[in-house]
Amino acid sequence: MKSENKTAAAPRKGAKAKGLKKVEAFVRPGALKKIMLALAEADYPGLTVTEVQGHGRQRGVKEHYRDQTTMSLLTKFKLEIVVEGGDEARRIVDAIVKAARTGEYGDGKIFVYDVERALRIRTGEPVV
Ligand SMILES: Nc1ncnc2c1ncn2[C@@H]1O[C@H](COP(=O)(O)OP(=O)(O)OP(=O)(O)O)[C@@H](O)[C@H]1O
Ligand SMILES: [Mg+2]
Repeated sequence: MKSENKTAAAPRKGAKAKGLKKVEAFVRPGALKKIMLALAEADYPGLTVTEVQGHGRQRGVKEHYRDQTTMSLLTKFKLEIVVEGGDEARRIVDAIVKAARTGEYGDGKIFVYDVERALRIRTGEPVV
């Protein structure tokens, strides 16, 4: 009984690596074409692209005048890609970073999330 409980409580082997992940990337509009080509090579399962406004640590400006803090919003593209497993997520992240990096401020940021569930509406099957 005790050992059964222990087994049930233990995480499934490789469960973490196999879990669904969402890669969310904020990138320069000018980098999109190159990123899309890199993703096509990386064989991604699907993609959502949204035009967004935002800023990072520079608050959308490169200079600060006197003591006043200036703030503005810059246009970026948000990419959302849900994949199966941490390895796939890393592959997608690497492809985006390689295609999007110029080394200058504003190259963008990437966040990776755990996804609880994914299903295809047409069939109802759990799938990415
Ligand atoms: N902490 C954050 N939360 C949500 N969105 C963010 C965050 N940081 C950045 N973003 C989004 O990412 C875009 C790109 O950010 P940016 O590349 O300027 O980040 P940064 O941290 O300032 O890095 P860098 O110093 O290279 O400019 C922003 O315009 C915004 O849309
Ligand atoms: Mg910035």
